[in-house]
Amino acid sequence: MQKTTIILITLALFAVSCQSEKKEKEDIKIGTKKKEISAFDTGKKIFNGKGKCYTCHKIDKKSIGPGVHEIVKIYKEQNADLIAFLKQEAEPIVDPETYAVMKTNFAIIKTFSEEELKALEVYMTEVSEQ
Ligand code: HEC
Repeated sequence: MQKTTIILITLALFAVSCQSEKKEKEDIKIGTKKKEISAFDTGKKIFNGKGKCYTCHKIDKKSIGPGVHEIVKIYKEQNADLIAFLKQEAEPIVDPETYAVMKTNFAIIKTFSEEELKALEVYMTEVSEQ
């Protein structure tokens, strides 16, 4: 009988500790959201700054390269992975005929961290939703 009580108490404690773990996870989620907001700014900075993307990509119209809206729309439609493209792990799907021009940028893009690539994706996607 006593043994059962101990087991029950242990189980109860377990449940409580699990719950607090869950809470922690929720906290982390809030943290990620905050990070996403700054990812937009980081992405914007890279896009207009060291990435020089803006020289060829305007937001809502075609210039040397396709507009960001156009790119994001096609990537959404085809459920494609923008980061994979930037890592040269996926073929171009927007305008393969002029891919050679885009290709010249991979020397710079290669130096970007995983976080910077993610920030670029966040920026390009969110700026298209505005
Ligand atoms: C010298 C001009 C130029 C610059 C600078 C440039 N791009 Fe491009 N980009 C292009 C051209 C042209 C295309 C169309 C060819 C293509 O679709 O690959 C393109 C296409 C793309 C595509 C669509 C790829 C696909 O699937 O077809 C993405 C995404 C992209 N660029 C991202 C970027 C990012 C991010 C930067 C900055 C780090 C950047 N580009 C800088 C010219 C440029």
